[in-house]
Amino acid sequence: MSNLKQGEFVGSLDCGTTSTRFLIFDKHADIVAQHQIEYPQYYPEPGWHEQDPDELMNSCEVCIDEASKALEAAGWAKESVKAIGITNQRESAVAWSRKTGKPLCRLIVWDDARTKNTVAHFEAKLQNVGIEVKPGEFKKGKEGVEALRQISGLTISTYFSAIKLRWMIDHHESVRKAHEEDDLLFGTVESWIVYRLTGGAEKNLHISDVTNASRTLLMNLNTLQWDDSLLKFFELKPSVLPKIVSSSEVYGELVSGALKGVKITGIAGDQQAALIGNKCLKQGEAKCTYGTGAFLLFCTGDEIVLSNHGLLSTVAYQDGKDGKPVYALEGSIAVAGSAIKWLRDSMSLVPTAQEVNTMAGSVPNSGGVYFVTAFSGLLAPYWDPGAAGLLIGLTSYTTPAHIALATLEANAFQTRAILESMALDSHAELKHLKVDGGMTNGDMVMKVLADVGGFEVIRPEMRESTALGSALLAGSALRLFGWDISAPETLAEVNTKGSTSFSPSMPEADREKRWVGWKRAVERARAWEE
Ligand code: G3P
Repeated sequence: MSNLKQGEFVGSLDCGTTSTRFLIFDKHADIVAQHQIEYPQYYPEPGWHEQDPDELMNSCEVCIDEASKALEAAGWAKESVKAIGITNQRESAVAWSRKTGKPLCRLIVWDDARTKNTVAHFEAKLQNVGIEVKPGEFKKGKEGVEALRQISGLTISTYFSAIKLRWMIDHHESVRKAHEEDDLLFGTVESWIVYRLTGGAEKNLHISDVTNASRTLLMNLNTLQWDDSLLKFFELKPSVLPKIVSSSEVYGELVSGALKGVKITGIAGDQQAALIGNKCLKQGEAKCTYGTGAFLLFCTGDEIVLSNHGLLSTVAYQDGKDGKPVYALEGSIAVAGSAIKWLRDSMSLVPTAQEVNTMAGSVPNSGGVYFVTAFSGLLAPYWDPGAAGLLIGLTSYTTPAHIALATLEANAFQTRAILESMALDSHAELKHLKVDGGMTNGDMVMKVLADVGGFEVIRPEMRESTALGSALLAGSALRLFGWDISAPETLAEVNTKGSTSFSPSMPEADREKRWVGWKRAVERARAWEE
């Protein structure tokens, strides 16, 4: 007889851009057990970023099994895990075969910029031919751009999945053939994970949750269904698409591994999950997560706010099949933590990622250096796929410490640019910013953010908000612990740990001078690539 204790916990599988984690939470959001592994990344050409769907799956299975072992080692039976939530890097596109359940090529990661020509092609199509919004009625030029934005909340960019899928069909013979023969299944990462964890080709559970679907450029934000006019515009067959489901309901169960039989009951893209994990569930609440990239989401409640200042509109969550969708405005920055990784791995300028903080803190200012980290163009609010990475203001006085500080400042300047757009769109100025993500562990990152941004930065003690968000969605579907995403008061006892605030200390005149300098640097970086 096992003497392991029986408890009630929720698991969360968080498949981020560079690593996968499985965390097991109790009802207060304390972590009872966890496991994390990095999986391989492939950069076959400049601007390209791929992953192997099978390696990614393997990382998920290993994390689930190892975290379950850790749970047992902590004295709990693995049957204590009552539900599983899934959260993932968004927009990354996976193509696999309906017949075999096997991937047809490597997946294209969200920050991959190979699709510039595909973007140019569809931008030209929108200008000249237009999008057919009703049978026979085409909107083109500015009206076309507006129509596409009204339907999807998005703009044509290398960032979104439809463009990546189109590229795969146009450049991989196996994907083209599968598309033609109705053998192609497309999905974002959560779609692939759920398909595989629930039995692959045998069960054929091909779903995508509404938050991930809203990042494809194929979903109608109002109806929460795939949109015919968008599918026609991008020349894609509806048969390739998963069924769109809510963020919190019973989808299926694990067919193998340590947690065989446990139900998957919550799914959200990682940034929406972080919004939920931060309990920013109501209109006016916002957070910014600094991981590989940085993503600022501002909850707009049941209203779809279309941005006039370079932000995108997205679904924050939908609680259950019949739940009303809650929306958000989002500012996405492609390069945040990945710039630090680049300083460490590609430039050997810093020995460890943590050391960036010490180095940046060792100089009083960046010595006039600006670093526009446009490694794959610039996303919000600039939306310029042709922008190039730029280090400017270098002199013989410049040291690695100045570049380290300029890297942290680049992150802060881009956050400020997004916050300014958000203030213009929402007519409300955020007085403080709630942050999380791996990069926020460094105090210097926080100080620079507060100084450059001129706002208070609040860093919660418990910063596993992405994983927590999907656990809350999963628990809520079963009303575990009385959780109900639509009734935030039921989450009052979740994550009650404190937070640390960082206030701006840079004199206003210096802040404004640096800001003007940043804007000049961005102008020089823009439209560099033909
Ligand atoms: O939109 C891309 C985003 O979901 C990636 O998040 O945390 O893996 O950088 P992260």
